[in-house]
Amino acid sequence: MTDSWTPPSWRQRKARQLPAYPDAAALAGAEAQLAAWPPLIFPGEADALRERLARVARGEAFLLQGGDCAESFDELGGATVAGTFRVILQMAVVLTYGAACPVVKLGRIAGQFAKPRSSDVETIDGTTLPSYRGDIVNGSEFTAAARTPDPQRLLRAYSHSATVLNLLRALAQGGFADLHQVHRWTADFVRQSPQGERFEALAGRITDCLAFMEACGFDAARTPQLHAVEFWTSHEALHLHYEEALTRRDEASGRFYGGSAHLLWIGERTREIAGAHVEFLRGIANPIGVKLGPKVTADELLPLLDRLDPQQQPGRVVLITRMGAGRLPERLPALVRAVKATGRAPVWCCDPMHGNTVTSGNGYKTRDFANIATEVRDFFAVHAAEGSQAGGLHFEMTGQDVTECRGGAQGLTDESLAQRYRSACDPRLNGSQSLELAFMVAEMLKAGRRQAA
Ligand code: PEP
Ligand code: CO
Repeated sequence: MTDSWTPPSWRQRKARQLPAYPDAAALAGAEAQLAAWPPLIFPGEADALRERLARVARGEAFLLQGGDCAESFDELGGATVAGTFRVILQMAVVLTYGAACPVVKLGRIAGQFAKPRSSDVETIDGTTLPSYRGDIVNGSEFTAAARTPDPQRLLRAYSHSATVLNLLRALAQGGFADLHQVHRWTADFVRQSPQGERFEALAGRITDCLAFMEACGFDAARTPQLHAVEFWTSHEALHLHYEEALTRRDEASGRFYGGSAHLLWIGERTREIAGAHVEFLRGIANPIGVKLGPKVTADELLPLLDRLDPQQQPGRVVLITRMGAGRLPERLPALVRAVKATGRAPVWCCDPMHGNTVTSGNGYKTRDFANIATEVRDFFAVHAAEGSQAGGLHFEMTGQDVTECRGGAQGLTDESLAQRYRSACDPRLNGSQSLELAFMVAEMLKAGRRQAA
C-alpha cells in the first residue's frame, strides 16, 4: 500500500473533524507558506525517539507523555512552558530514582492546538456558530468573527510551536535540567505541599548520591547525561492540512517524515481504518500513537496495526488506551492477548484522563484523582497478568497551580474548581497532583520490576 501513499493521498479519503474554511484560496496560500518554511524537527530525531520507544516496548524504559489538553496562543509567556517542563522532569526523576528505570520524556506541547469536537456547531440562546476547534482553527469567543475558521492561524500555530520548541531545547540542554539543580525544579506553590516535601527529600538523596560519587572520583563533568535531558514533542495529528504542509522527504533514506513534532498520534474519533487520518499517518516514518477507547475490538485493532505498521518496526506504534476506570479490566485483556498473538510488541501506554471525564455539581468538566489512580493501577495489573509491558503514562497536566481535577492529597472539591479553573479544554492535573501520580507509579513500577527479577 505504501507505494500509493503520497503526502496528500489522505485527501481521497473521508476526513472527519476538519474545519470548513470559507476561503479555499486563503487556505491554499497558508499551506504554501508552511511548505516553504523549515520543518520543526529532523528525521534523525524522530528515528532516535523510535529507538527509545523500542526500549520501552522491551521493558527497558518507561514513557511519560504529558502536557495541556490544548495549548493556547495567549499563553506564550515562558513560565507556562517552563512549568510544564519542570513537572515532567520531576515526575521522570521520581520514576528514575524510585524504580531505577530510565524515562522517555515526551511533551504534549509545541503543536497541540487542534481539538476534535462532538458537534460541528454550538448553539447559545438561539444563535448557532461553528464549534471552537482549537487555536489553530478559530477563536473560542462566541462571536461569528472569532468562530470562523481562519487559515492565518495555521501560520501562527507554526510560529508558536517554533518558539516553544526553542525554549524546550534550551531548557533541556542549557543547564536547567542538570541533576545538580534538582532542588530548583519545584515550583514555590508545590514546595509546601506533602508532594513537594516528598520531592525535596528525594532531591536531597540525589544530591547526596552525586556528592558521594564525586568524592569517590566519579567525574560528573564528563557525564553528559547528568547535565542535559532528551525531551521530545508530540500532538494529535488532527489538522491534516497543517501536517501535510510540514511533511518532508528525507533525501538520505527517501522516506517521508512529519515535520511538526517527533511523535504524532491519531485520536479516538479519527482512527477508522478507511479514514483520512489513518491514511496520512501510515505514510510517515515518525513514531505514531493511536488512542483506543473502551469500544475498540481486536477485530478493529489488528487490521489497523497491519495498516500503520506493516513491517512491525520496533518503537513505531504506541497504543494509548483511554478506557475509563472500571472498564479497563473488562476491555484491555482481550486486546493485549490478541496483539501478543500476532507477535507484535507495541508500546502500551495508559491515558487515565479521557475515559474519566465527568461534570461536577457546579457545572465544571472535571476528573477525579481516585478514578485516574484506579485506571493506572488496573493498567499495571492487567499487563502483569498478561505478561506484557505496562510501557507508559499519557496525561493532561500543567505546572500551574490550577484547580481542575478533584481529589488528590490536596483534597480538591467541587468548590475548589471555581478557584483556578483555567483549561481551554479538558481538566488537567496540577503540579502537585502530577507528582502524586508519579510517586504512585514509581511504586508500581518498582513492584513489577521486583517480580520480574
Ligand atoms: C485528547 O487527547 O485531548 C483527546 C481528545 O483524546 P481522545 O482522542 O482520546 O478523546
Ligand atoms: Co483532552
